[in-house]
Amino acid sequence: MAAEKSVQSIGMFDSGIGGLTVMQKVMQALPNESIVYFGDTARVPYGGKSSETIVRYSIENSIFLLEKNIKILVIACNTAASAAIVKLCTIFNIPVVGVIEPGAEKAVSVTRNARIAVLGTRSTIHSGAYQREIEKRLPGVKVFSIACPLFVPLVEEGMIHQPFARAIVKEHLAPLKHQGVDTIMLGCTHYPILKSLIQEEMGPEIALVDSGTTCAEKVAAILRDQALESPKDHVAEHRYFVSDDPAKFRESAERIFGQPISHVHAATLWT
Ligand code: DGL
Repeated sequence: MAAEKSVQSIGMFDSGIGGLTVMQKVMQALPNESIVYFGDTARVPYGGKSSETIVRYSIENSIFLLEKNIKILVIACNTAASAAIVKLCTIFNIPVVGVIEPGAEKAVSVTRNARIAVLGTRSTIHSGAYQREIEKRLPGVKVFSIACPLFVPLVEEGMIHQPFARAIVKEHLAPLKHQGVDTIMLGCTHYPILKSLIQEEMGPEIALVDSGTTCAEKVAAILRDQALESPKDHVAEHRYFVSDDPAKFRESAERIFGQPISHVHAATLWT
C-alpha cells in the first residue's frame, strides 16, 4: 500500500458528541492514527427521526468526511449504523465500520445468564438491529430492549449532573427492574457519559457494556489486514468538524476527554 494512503485519517461521525466516546477508545488503541471527527450538532438528535432521514444525513456526513481523504469510515452512532450501514457499505469504496456488531459481540461475551438489556434511541430499538446481532451470536438469549429518548438531550445539553437527570434515568430504566438481566448494552454512543447514573440505578452487580473498545479493535484489525496502518513514527492529528457552534462542541468534548482540544471547525454540508 502506498505510504500516502496509510497516513490518511480515520473518519468518524455521530449526530453530536456521543461518538467521542468511541473516538476516545480508537485514540487509545491506535495512538499514531490521525482522526477526523464530524458531529452533526445542527441536526442532533437523530434518534426520533425516520430511517429515510437518518440515511440521508449519514450519506451527507460520509461525503463530507470522504472529501477529507479518509481511509476508513467509522459510524460512531448506533442510530446511524442501524439505519444506514448497508447503504454506506454499498455506495462508498472504503471500509465502513459500525458500532452495532462490535457492541453485540461485547454483550454476548460478558453475559453469564443470557439475559441482556439493550438501551438505545427509539430508532435503534425499533430497527431491532441489536436484538438480531445478539441473537445471532447467542441463540436462546433473552433480550430486553428499552428506548431512552431523553438520554441524548441530557448529554448534549450538559445536564447530567442536574437532579432531574437521576429521575429521568430512573424512569427510563423502571421496566428493567426485576427482569434478571446481568448485562446492559449501552446501545447509543452518548450513553457511556451517563454510565455512573445508570450503574447507580441498576446496582453494581450489573455489567454495563458499550461498543467503544470492540469497535476500536475492529478498526485496528481492518487497518492491519488491509495494510492501511500509519507508520509507528506517524504523529497523529485529531481534527473536529461540527455543523453547529464549534465553541459549544469544544466545551463538551473537553469535558468528555478531560483535556483541552484544538482544531474544532464549523462545517457546511449543504451549500
Ligand atoms: N450517539 C447516537 C447513537 O449512538 C445518538 C443518536 C441521536 O442523535 O439521537 O445512537
